[in-house]
Amino acid sequence: MKKIKDAQTQIFIGEDVLLNLDEYLSNAVVVADKNSMQYTLPLLPRLSGLEVIRIDGNERSKNIDTVIFLWKEFERLQLDRNAVVICVGGGVVCDVVGFAAATYKRGIRFVNIPTTLLAMVDASVGGKTAIDLDGIKNVAGVFARPDRVFIYPPFIKTLPHEQILSGIAEIIKMYAVTKRKFSIENFDVSNNNFTEHIIFAVREKARIVSHDFKEHGKRKILNFGHTAGHAVEAFLLSQNKEITHGECVMWGMVAELFLSVRLLGFPHSEYEKFLSFAVRHYKPLHIKTEDVPAVINYMRSDKKNYQNKIMPVLLRCYGCPVWDCGMIDYALLTNILPDSILLSS
Ligand SMILES: NC(=O)c1ccc[n+]([C@@H]2O[C@H](COP(=O)([O-])OP(=O)(O)OC[C@H]3O[C@@H](n4cnc5c(N)ncnc54)[C@H](O)[C@@H]3O)[C@@H](O)[C@H]2O)c1
Repeated sequence: MKKIKDAQTQIFIGEDVLLNLDEYLSNAVVVADKNSMQYTLPLLPRLSGLEVIRIDGNERSKNIDTVIFLWKEFERLQLDRNAVVICVGGGVVCDVVGFAAATYKRGIRFVNIPTTLLAMVDASVGGKTAIDLDGIKNVAGVFARPDRVFIYPPFIKTLPHEQILSGIAEIIKMYAVTKRKFSIENFDVSNNNFTEHIIFAVREKARIVSHDFKEHGKRKILNFGHTAGHAVEAFLLSQNKEITHGECVMWGMVAELFLSVRLLGFPHSEYEKFLSFAVRHYKPLHIKTEDVPAVINYMRSDKKNYQNKIMPVLLRCYGCPVWDCGMIDYALLTNILPDSILLSS
C-alpha cells in the first residue's frame, strides 16, 4: 500500500486499502450513485452495516437540487457534527457530496472512495468541491479537504473504455504540466494496470496542492486543458449530448496547446504528436463552425478570468506551464481558437 500526504489528508493507494476503513464505520453514512452502488459496494463489505443514500451520478445532477436532497437526508438521519460521510463514486459524487458535507452544519467530515479512474487520479484529492449552475461548470463550491482518500485501483475493472479514456486525459494533463521529458506517443492506453500512473498523478497533485491549497498561484497549472475543455463540456451538455469530462479535457488540451504554439513557442512537432494521439483515441466532438461562438462564450464564465480576459494555462514546453501571463482577449481568441476547436470535429 502507498501512503501519500497532502497537508492534512492521508491518501492510501493499493489493493489492501479498504482494510483501513474501520475508524470511519461508526456515526457514518455512505453516498453512492447507481453504478458505484452496483459495482463497488459489494466489494466493500465493511460498509454493509451503514445506511446508503443514492444519488444520480452524472454531470446534470451535480447541482443545488442534489445538495438540498443530501442535506435533507443528513437531517433525516440526524447526522451530528461528528458524523462522517463516505463518498463512493466518480468525480460527480466526490464533488457534490463533498460540497454537501462541507456545508452541512458548517462542515462535517467526509472520506472519498473514488471508483472511476478520473476520480482516482484527480477529483478525489486536492479538496475542491463544487456544483454547476445553469450548465456552467463548478460555479459554486468550497475548498474542503476530505479526511482520508482510499484508492482501490481494481474498481476500474468495471468501467466502460470511454471512462478509462476520460481518466487517462487527466493523467496526461499531469505529465504534460510536470514532466519535461514527457512523450505522449509512448503512452499505452491499452495497458490495464494504471496503478503507477495513479500514484504519479496523486503524488504530483498532493505536492502542488500542499503549497497552494486555494489556487492563488501554481495550483492553476492543474487547469491546463480546462478553460477550453469546460466550455466545450458546458456547450455539449446544453445540447443534451453525452460526453465525458476527460474527453473534453483532452480536446481542451489540444486547443490550449494550439494557443501555446502560437503564443509561447511550444514545439509544433510535439503539438502534432499530441493531436494525433487525441485523434487516434478520442471520439470527435462534432462541434460545427456556427457553434464555435457559443463555445467561446462559455469561456467568459471561466473562474480564472481576470478583467474580462481569459487566462488559460499554456505551455512553453512540457513541464513548463505558464499560468498567469497568458491573458488573452476575446477578440484574439475568436480569431485563433475556432481552428483548433474544429480540429476535434
Ligand atoms: N474536484 C476536483 O478536483 C475535480 C477534478 C477533476 C474532475 N472533477 C469533476 O469530476 C467529474 C467527472 O468525474 P467522473 O469522470 O468520475 O464522472 P462520473 O462521476 O460521472 O462517473 C462516470 C460514470 O461512471 C460510473 N461509475 C462510477 N464508478 C464505476 C465503476 N467502478 N464501474 C462502472 N461504472 C462506474 C458512474 O455512475 C458514471 O456513470 C466532473 O464533474 C468534473 O468536473 C473534479
